[in-house]
Amino acid sequence: AGAPAVASGTYEFLVLSNRLPVDRVVGPDGESSWQHSPGGLVTALEPVMRAADGAWVGWAGQPDLDLDPFESDGIHIVPVPLSALEVENYYEGFSNDTLWPLYHDVIAPPTYHREWWDSYVLVNQRFADAAIASSAPGAVVWVQDYQLQLVPKMLRAARPDLTIGFFNHIPFPPYGIYSQLPWRTQIIEGLLGADVIGFQRTADAGNFARAVRRLLGYTTKTTNIEVPGENPRTVIAKSFPISIDSMSFEELARQPEIQARAEEIREGLGNPKTIMLGVDRLDYTKGIAHRLKAFGELLADGRLDVEDVTMVQVASPSRERVQAYMQLRDEIELTVGRINGDYATISHTAISYHHHGYPREEMVALYLAADVMLVTALRDGMNLVAKEYVATRFDESGVLVLSEFTGASDELKKSLQINPHDIDGVKDAIVQAIAMPRVEQRKRMRAMRKQVLSNDVAHWSINFLTALNRAAASQRERDTA
Ligand code: G6P
Repeated sequence: AGAPAVASGTYEFLVLSNRLPVDRVVGPDGESSWQHSPGGLVTALEPVMRAADGAWVGWAGQPDLDLDPFESDGIHIVPVPLSALEVENYYEGFSNDTLWPLYHDVIAPPTYHREWWDSYVLVNQRFADAAIASSAPGAVVWVQDYQLQLVPKMLRAARPDLTIGFFNHIPFPPYGIYSQLPWRTQIIEGLLGADVIGFQRTADAGNFARAVRRLLGYTTKTTNIEVPGENPRTVIAKSFPISIDSMSFEELARQPEIQARAEEIREGLGNPKTIMLGVDRLDYTKGIAHRLKAFGELLADGRLDVEDVTMVQVASPSRERVQAYMQLRDEIELTVGRINGDYATISHTAISYHHHGYPREEMVALYLAADVMLVTALRDGMNLVAKEYVATRFDESGVLVLSEFTGASDELKKSLQINPHDIDGVKDAIVQAIAMPRVEQRKRMRAMRKQVLSNDVAHWSINFLTALNRAAASQRERDTA
């Protein structure tokens, strides 16, 4: 942080997301510092932005911060301020207590409040205004995720010269669920301001097209949506499965210090035969309780022994002021305490639980130490943790147990796929994973590694931006014809 950014109105490429790659955090001593932001969106976009000479527009994670544009680790940053009330209504409220549960199959009940919606509209307009002020004529603006779904339409209204992309990092729900939303039509119209709307899975794009047909009656044909009006437009709605900077994970995994750290982790856990790992933001979509239940039952049944198998669960703190997240934390920590109380011995813990976020190096050491990776999300747009694990396992050992309700399951076909609601099925998959012969591990991991290494995040952004430029060019041709 520190260096002044280029004057506004000059960027040819802008990314907008609610959260910036760095969060301003204030410590107990009142001192503030910058911290790496959590979540899949930042993980994916950071390498893209470092390679592009654009600017990243977003919120620095604290209320009432009025910061000037700055540079962070080679990325131009344009901060957008939120008041304490906006953090409550737009971020914790509408984004994370209305849209988040609604878009994740109503795993938790969504709350609908009109003041939250009003705040969402207002903040979306602020993000749009920031982009309008920072973009050069004819610039490409790429809007990210569910917090900013109204921005594409706002941008188009003010700046028809812009090429506008949108990418939804989370699922788009089936119409029967989506139609609960009192503002369902406004959101669809907001998104249709984009030239290209990207989704994680083909099913998400299909759900969106159906919502457009039902609510607006527009014609859709495969990935094309025909938006009528004075200037008819074709909007593309299509899947672009997101990924990670795969090679950088493999490079870290090959470092001797990180391998030594993986050994140390194993030692620290008392050298169990098998280490199982879960890594998630502490979120009710991740199915952490289902995973713990399966593991606890396996210990109770005597199918697993605590002397042989340890589970490490990293649960990084997330959205801690939202009620559903507070409840979840209590529930998970109660369960972890019970299982450890019932089954741990003095020398072997059942679950090594960590309510922390860790730097990338430590995560890679954990992935290296883990014989079995457990991803049991009840619903997840993609789940990049699954891809990180695969990218790290350069010796082709290790087993990925993966929920079919993640976007990643469309691509990682050689994982052990599970339905997390089927506890017996999860238990069987865990036992199968632990017992899997090396040859079979290798066969499966090799196929998955090929997938993740050749479809990395650079590939994702190039695919999206190529589709975006193509769509915008053919629209311009049509406009001038
Ligand atoms: C998911 C969302 C992101 C979000 C991240 C962290 O990955 O798709 O948009 O930034 O979670 O959540 P938070 O609310 O802390 O930004």
